[in-house]
Amino acid sequence: MTNRPLVAGNWKMHGLKASAGELQKIIAGAQKLSHVDLMVCPPATLLADFAAAARGSRLAIGGQDCHALAAGACTGDISAEMLKDAGAQAVIVGHSERRQHHNETDAAVRAKALAAGRAGLLAIVCVGETRAQRDAGDACSVVRAQLDGSLPGGAADVAVAYEPVWAIGSGLTPTAHDIADMHGFIRRHLASYYGEAGRGTRILYGGSVKPENAKELMAVEHVDGALVGGASLKAEEFLAIAGVYG
Ligand code: 13P
Repeated sequence: MTNRPLVAGNWKMHGLKASAGELQKIIAGAQKLSHVDLMVCPPATLLADFAAAARGSRLAIGGQDCHALAAGACTGDISAEMLKDAGAQAVIVGHSERRQHHNETDAAVRAKALAAGRAGLLAIVCVGETRAQRDAGDACSVVRAQLDGSLPGGAADVAVAYEPVWAIGSGLTPTAHDIADMHGFIRRHLASYYGEAGRGTRILYGGSVKPENAKELMAVEHVDGALVGGASLKAEEFLAIAGVYG
């Protein structure tokens, strides 16, 4: 089974209203890319504007995080329902930056992924090992535990992003061989967890994806697209990465 690829840009804490021009370039470029789904996940402050600009185009808009509750006394938090209301179609949950800096546990990530499903959003559930864990030979067991703890019950509204922590923003990537091993491992895990539907769950690779390495990385078996950080901020680079799918 070949899954339709998804290339999503995680803008992290970058972007002001002035970034609308870059978004327009991405929207225009997306119209020419018919073999890949494209998404930009801007900071929450830009989400409604970006969703309005992208309406009717081939570009989807996503959030970067959500709270597990639909509403409540949670100062500073944003619910999945609010993201949906602002025009989002997806939300990233369990990014390593949130696991590390906001102490998010697997259980918290699962609650957020369930919230995404409840609101009608695709949950992009992030997993990935640290350098020390890989060097110790524990990469697969770490990722297995994250999947076991973070994935919600139903496969329909989920994509998994494998993002080795040491590859994020470092310019380093695993070898194609190591990515093939890990994505094959995740695919088998999804198939045992979700049954047949797990074969259709997209597994994205993230961590220093650039126009220069996208072709090689996206050609790896069970890589169904990319979650792109830094390179997604520049329309030209982001479109060049998605363009490997033609
Ligand atoms: P970089 O592409 O900047 O390495 O970031 C990857 C990432 O964290 C996407 O979520």
